[in-house]
Amino acid sequence: MEIKVLKDYNVLSYIVANIVEYQIQEQLLSRFILPTGSTPLGLYKELVSRELDWGAVMTYNLDVYIMNPDHPQSYQTFMKENLFNKINIYPTNCQFPDRNVQSYEQRLKGIPADLCILGIGTNGHIAFNEPGSSFDSRTRVVSLSEQTIKDNSRFFDSIEDVPTQAITMGLGTIMDSKRIVLMANGDHKLNILNVAMNGEVTEDVPASILQNHDNVEVFYCD
Ligand code: PGA
Repeated sequence: MEIKVLKDYNVLSYIVANIVEYQIQEQLLSRFILPTGSTPLGLYKELVSRELDWGAVMTYNLDVYIMNPDHPQSYQTFMKENLFNKINIYPTNCQFPDRNVQSYEQRLKGIPADLCILGIGTNGHIAFNEPGSSFDSRTRVVSLSEQTIKDNSRFFDSIEDVPTQAITMGLGTIMDSKRIVLMANGDHKLNILNVAMNGEVTEDVPASILQNHDNVEVFYCD
């Protein structure tokens, strides 16, 4: 698969914002699957700076930690602070997985998301589908791998504060999207990106499932 190498993080954020903007302009009632983490921060900043009409948009987040949604490090707080509180989206149109996993699947089933934006973990995870996750997996409660807990500890006071469980969309759920854009930023992601996009398609590298989707773009900057 082609990995489009971009000049820098600003260009990465700008190009993916263009894709989001085009989707909303083409279809006001668009459905997006959205990521958290450090990679999409520039994208969200860029989107906030544009005058887009989010009034009919529905969003579905990829995953949440199992923790108080009002906690400063929860993904619900992240989305509010970086995007939802700064655009004209209806709070009830911003959906997050919860323990009623079947209901979340139902909301996505039947009408696939128009665009799913993904990051990638250093172990090849997408959302919180850690290595070994079934390619058929759907939304479910998962335990985070040691690598992911270590990677995400930078957002917490100590590694002990990182939640050990999450609710994530499954790989099957993600693959139902009509279009997928994967964003990766930093040297530390390059190796896993190459393995995932051009190596063996295996459940040991969850992102490798994207090789089986016919509408995926992969953007990288160092
Ligand atoms: P990051 O995380 O954007 O914080 O690097 C990506 C991921 O783990 O999916």
